[in-house]
Amino acid sequence: MTLVHRARQYGFCIIFLFLSNLPVLTNAASSPVTPLTAREWLQSQTGFAYHQILNNLSPADAMPGAVIAAPSRHQPNYYYHWVRDAAIAMETLSTYHDTFATPQQKQLIHQSFSDYIMFTTHIQQLYPQAGLGEPKFNVDGSTFNDPWGRPQNDSPALRAISLTHWAQVLLREGQESVVRHTLYDCQLPANLPIKKDLEYVSHHWQDPSFDLWEEVKGTHFYTLMVSRRALLEGAQLAQTLGDDGAAQWYRLQARQIETVVLHFWDHSRGYFVASLNVSEGTKNKIANLDCSVILGLLHGDMHDGFLAWDDPRVIATLHKVIDTFTPLYSINQRRGIPGIGIGRYPEDVYDGTGFQGGNPWVLCTFAVAEALYRYAFTLNMHHQQQEAQSVEAYADQFVARIKYHTPSDGSLSEQIHRETGAMMSAPDLTWSYAALLTTAYEAGRLSQ
Ligand code: NOJ
Ligand code: NOJ
Repeated sequence: MTLVHRARQYGFCIIFLFLSNLPVLTNAASSPVTPLTAREWLQSQTGFAYHQILNNLSPADAMPGAVIAAPSRHQPNYYYHWVRDAAIAMETLSTYHDTFATPQQKQLIHQSFSDYIMFTTHIQQLYPQAGLGEPKFNVDGSTFNDPWGRPQNDSPALRAISLTHWAQVLLREGQESVVRHTLYDCQLPANLPIKKDLEYVSHHWQDPSFDLWEEVKGTHFYTLMVSRRALLEGAQLAQTLGDDGAAQWYRLQARQIETVVLHFWDHSRGYFVASLNVSEGTKNKIANLDCSVILGLLHGDMHDGFLAWDDPRVIATLHKVIDTFTPLYSINQRRGIPGIGIGRYPEDVYDGTGFQGGNPWVLCTFAVAEALYRYAFTLNMHHQQQEAQSVEAYADQFVARIKYHTPSDGSLSEQIHRETGAMMSAPDLTWSYAALLTTAYEAGRLSQ
């Protein structure tokens, strides 16, 4: 059954569910008479998600500009500035700035970015064990020296993406000199944050690195996809600012990355695998099937036709991820609950505090919804409206799934217990809110 067929089937299911099971879907925050649809709920949560991200930025005991992965300090201790999580959250804030923000919120986002830029400038001048590939820092801006999976080379790439987007916002606002003084100058050795990260990424993308889950050392689809995007978007900025030689070099590296990315297609398995050349770390990832591939397609999406959403290999991978997680968690088996909770990878056992078994993750379930919304958008562009509508309704199911497990105050943790359906592991995970915002943004684009 193709994704579109399945989407059609689910499209009918959703109608059935709404008719037959209204109390199950009712969210306490909504009126009991007219419960919010999944899409309405999603849009209704964007303001809250934005606030929660800001709450996790520059907490009182941190250096301004530090972004904590979550407020919890034990079980699990996520009270660190993870370069990856911070960049993903800040990137989302710049999208929020351009789409949902009020003038007052825009001002706050400007302040948040100047703090983030200062914090970034500071940590890039330290000499941590993995240099610019260092994955996380203490919130006071000092290095975290305990043993950890290092380097994690998606981190500088994501940081460059978030800062490059902000540089584009500043350029549109006529603030070129701020960009040239705080973000990108044409000097070598690199002086300012974006160019430092681009130099690092362009010279190190071939090196082995730990994956985004911090577990496996090797070459990763996710890391390469975000490196490619960092380099191509960085090249565009470099060119605007007159750094033509650098632009050419970044583009050349990005093209080379593309050929390596295509090696991740596993013809016999029928999906893009997550990691190659694995040399260290978790050994149990037999299927090599991972939601990180979906995240790589999302965070690396350049809308330039490279691994487009209607590429059969992309669809096959999406399909396989959904199929694999469906039987894995008992909450996915329960009748009357919409959608499917998606985890990181099928062999996962990390539960936030120990290794008692993997669970669906909020950000992974949103990732599937967001990917399907983007696929629907692509189908619309190709005038396949009917298919697009089915895929959209299917995407709504994954949002409805998260809605179902979200308490009425809207708070999102990292994981959803596979049996009880309760939110668990790190509460108020910054990345979960960022995932809600980008999914809402993609759903909103479809309704325009
Ligand atoms: C903490 C990491 O952040 C998480 O991704 C990983 O699964 C656990 N450590 C176990 O290695
Ligand atoms: C564990 C996740 O696996 C990793 O990707 C993330 O950076 C950290 N938690 C912090 O949220």
